[in-house]
Amino acid sequence: MSVETAVHDPTDRIGFVPTDTDARSRESTTLLVRPDHFGVSYRINPYMRPEAGADAARAREQWDDLRGVYNDLPARTTVLDPDEAVAGARDRCPAVQGPTQLPDMVFCANHGLALPDERGVVLSRMATSERADEVDYFAAWCEDQDYTVHTVESGPFEGTGDAIWHPGRRLLWGGYGIRTSRAVYDELADLLGVPVLGLELVDKRYYHLDVCFAPLDQSTVLVEPAAFTDASRERIEGCFDRVIEAGPGESESGLACNCHPIDGEHVVMGAGNPETAARVADAGFEVHEVPTDEFQKAGGSVRCLTLSLG
Ligand code: ARG
Repeated sequence: MSVETAVHDPTDRIGFVPTDTDARSRESTTLLVRPDHFGVSYRINPYMRPEAGADAARAREQWDDLRGVYNDLPARTTVLDPDEAVAGARDRCPAVQGPTQLPDMVFCANHGLALPDERGVVLSRMATSERADEVDYFAAWCEDQDYTVHTVESGPFEGTGDAIWHPGRRLLWGGYGIRTSRAVYDELADLLGVPVLGLELVDKRYYHLDVCFAPLDQSTVLVEPAAFTDASRERIEGCFDRVIEAGPGESESGLACNCHPIDGEHVVMGAGNPETAARVADAGFEVHEVPTDEFQKAGGSVRCLTLSLG
């Protein structure tokens, strides 16, 4: 069946289900950015309290543990050193800020989106001026690693924070309304040649799609229902056989939905979300919990700290 390469808004009637779309090869590499300059020094989401800051040494330990978890999983990791990447970016763009001014650089989910079946990336356009320069260093790193690099023009786009591939399918879920603009998905549908299912975000606590929506496999999704309009919730229910809700309060208190489903079997999740972890385990997944509370002070957990690449 051929599925229209276009954006399907939450209120549109669609005549397909995800399994009607073409298959896609899995992203095989997980990028992590070293947290050397991590901190909370401005407030661009409700979790951030610059007056309280964050404990850099503890963040480093938690990041090392997170990296260690991947060693035992079927996921290859690669690490970006922010100082090196910024030096590369500065060669191309002398005005770029130094890494010490970019405390959110560790949240690489927001830097781009992997192309569906080739070694390439669509770069983000950050919604906030505080994070804008991060994309220059990421672009420099991508070029060094021989990834083709694409850009979008029509509005802010925060990468896999908002644009999430359906597992194993050439089908993109597109969150919009808080950081990423709806307009950008028309451009992405054309550029990538895929259908996009738009999801409208309405609650500032869930300011990116990846803090309220995690497709665990082709037919199972973990969600925070409060994040979405009614039409968006109905769209999700219509496309997944199993919709698991995060445990009460855990989407906010522990960013429970910001987990990383690896291969339809393993899920890496921030520790401190016992009810959500139990629900996901009951559904047959192996949950690997890792403390991320230092990073949660900036509004991010496991999924924000990782970027899936081809
Ligand atoms: N402080 C960062 C921001 O507000 C956190 C980003 C979290 N990333 C994510 N993919 N949800 O942009």
